[in-house]
Amino acid sequence: MQFQLIDRFKQMNLKERMSFYNDAFKDENNINYFIRLIKDISENELTALLDSLTSDESEWIKSQLDENKAEVDLETAEKEISACLDKVPALMKEYVEKEVKAQEITEQRHNWMKHENPDILSDQMLGIPMPSPQKAIPDNAVLIDLPAPTEAALNEPDIRTCMAERASRRKFSDKELSLAELSYLLWSMQGIRKEQPNRHYKTVPSGGARQPFETYLSVHNVTGLETGIYRYIPFGHKLLFIKKEDSIKDKLSEYCYGQKFCGYCAVCFFWAVIPYRTEWRYSYVSSKDMLIESGHICQNLYLACESIGAGTCGIAAYDQNKIDDLLELDGKDEFIVYLAPVGYPA
Ligand SMILES: Cc1cc2nc3c(=O)[nH]c(=O)nc-3n(C[C@H](O)[C@H](O)[C@H](O)COP(=O)(O)O)c2cc1C
Repeated sequence: MQFQLIDRFKQMNLKERMSFYNDAFKDENNINYFIRLIKDISENELTALLDSLTSDESEWIKSQLDENKAEVDLETAEKEISACLDKVPALMKEYVEKEVKAQEITEQRHNWMKHENPDILSDQMLGIPMPSPQKAIPDNAVLIDLPAPTEAALNEPDIRTCMAERASRRKFSDKELSLAELSYLLWSMQGIRKEQPNRHYKTVPSGGARQPFETYLSVHNVTGLETGIYRYIPFGHKLLFIKKEDSIKDKLSEYCYGQKFCGYCAVCFFWAVIPYRTEWRYSYVSSKDMLIESGHICQNLYLACESIGAGTCGIAAYDQNKIDDLLELDGKDEFIVYLAPVGYPA
């Protein structure tokens, strides 16, 4: 019986072993059966088995062998182990199906990263009016004037040093960010530098100057600002207070899959895309441009942080629905694509 087991092990590739382990070792009883079974085989056979495994696997088995001294019912053990092994072909089928699906999706996604010249009439070509370059401000909105971005004192005005020193920072102190510093950071990522009729230019480039992003922020530690969720208003350089939110630091940590520093920071910025602003002109090929642009935005933030001695980290791992819900976005015409916590490095 044990020989069969060894043979089957030897024939397994790493993937099969992994599925076997996942299945067998989910249950503590199965682990024990397995260990006791292999414990019972002769020294030579055990060596052969261990040789056929990867070093991590054999080290783990050896450590388990030392720990498990209990007596075992070999017949039941073999049955259990065999039942696990019998599941391997089905698990393999599942793996293969998942792999094929992942391959298909990967290829589709590669395609939309390529440049495409669309054979379509865009809404702009059809004479449909241009969408607003800024989300509407509700009548009863609480607006806060921001100081001029030039009021923030720079520790490091040399752009070359900022580029050389830039790094992703994930540990922040309790030091407050001043309102002038917040103003400077917002301006660096989305400030308006030039306005023309029906066209405006920001501190970051954007395909066709469409500028499809809105910036939201969760303020935790900024001098003179109430804790809460805000939206940046680039036209006029203001903040719009949206709401207070209980336990926001812990919520953000959770919504970013346990990345605590996303909540435990002075402020966390969120970039929401409104795809139609770009699609109005470029239709379905806009996605590529819009994602590139979120990188420009965050890179400016990285460099601006560096220049005031603060730090940030671009974050793409977050729970889409939870963050969209938190910011009251519909997730269809407007949704988050990127976020970045900021603070002074601890
Ligand atoms: C698109 C993008 C997504 C990222 N997402 C995360 C993230 O979710 N969590 C994280 O800790 N770092 C994230 N990072 C930061 C990278 O881990 C970091 O840039 C990388 O390790 C290189 O380090 P450096 O920025 O210090 O040069 C992301 C960076 C980019 C550009």
